Amino acid sequence: MLPDKKIWMFTVLAVSVASLLFISCAQTKYYSEEELGLRSKTLYDEGSEFPIAGEPTKKEPGGSTKFERSFENSPPLISHDITGMLPIAMTENLCMGCHMPEEAGGSGATPIPKSHLMDLTTGEDLEGKLDGSRYNCMQCHVIQTELTPAVQNIFKGGFRDEKGHYRSNLMDTLNEGVAAE
Ligand code: HEC
Ligand code: HEC
Repeated sequence: MLPDKKIWMFTVLAVSVASLLFISCAQTKYYSEEELGLRSKTLYDEGSEFPIAGEPTKKEPGGSTKFERSFENSPPLISHDITGMLPIAMTENLCMGCHMPEEAGGSGATPIPKSHLMDLTTGEDLEGKLDGSRYNCMQCHVIQTELTPAVQNIFKGGFRDEKGHYRSNLMDTLNEGVAAE
């Protein structure tokens, strides 16, 4: 091979590599750290960015509108203001004052269901007494706020019974499909 032919081939190779590099660089879009994620702020400062906190309802119990259940037998969301009702303490549980079945009639509250008045692990009926594991209502029942979520939840709960949109029937359906011995 003649030396000038070698030079010529080297030049072609160099130009092709350079243009390939140029094309791939031109096509790559780079994102700054602020553009990554959902919060659009620097990731190094926790002081300026807080989770969105909506305002919970101020409607008093008796004046609120119940939320539709998220899915069949899901724990209902608390529809009313709970200011002054927390914390739930060993000596005081204001929720029970309105929601225990014997009290609920008077306050118009949804009565605590059968599932909370029995020991679900043994099936023992506690004869109207609340099971200890249900004492801390806020562990499962939460208040709601209106806000625009960063990521929309498109989950759609299923209901086999029309009534299930606003009432639970867990104790009637819990053993469905379980063969009795
Ligand atoms: C003064 C009585 C009262 C107190 C105290 C009270 N509630 Fe209520 N609650 C109601 C009433 C009445 C409703 C029905 C909605 C309405 O009329 O505002 C209700 C609705 C609810 C619902 C929705 C039920 C459904 O069927 O959708 C939940 C859950 C709930 N309350 C939980 C709680 C918890 C947890 C506490 C304690 C932090 C509590 N409530 C304290 C009266 C009360
Ligand atoms: C361990 C979770 C858990 C705890 C704690 C709990 N609940 Fe529930 N609750 C549920 C679930 C799940 C349902 C729906 C299925 C069912 O009826 O058991 C429900 C249903 C309800 C309902 C709707 C009943 C109906 O007929 O539609 C009311 C009212 C209620 N709970 C009130 C309370 C109150 C008041 C407390 C506290 C004293 C409490 N719950 C504690 C999980 C819980």
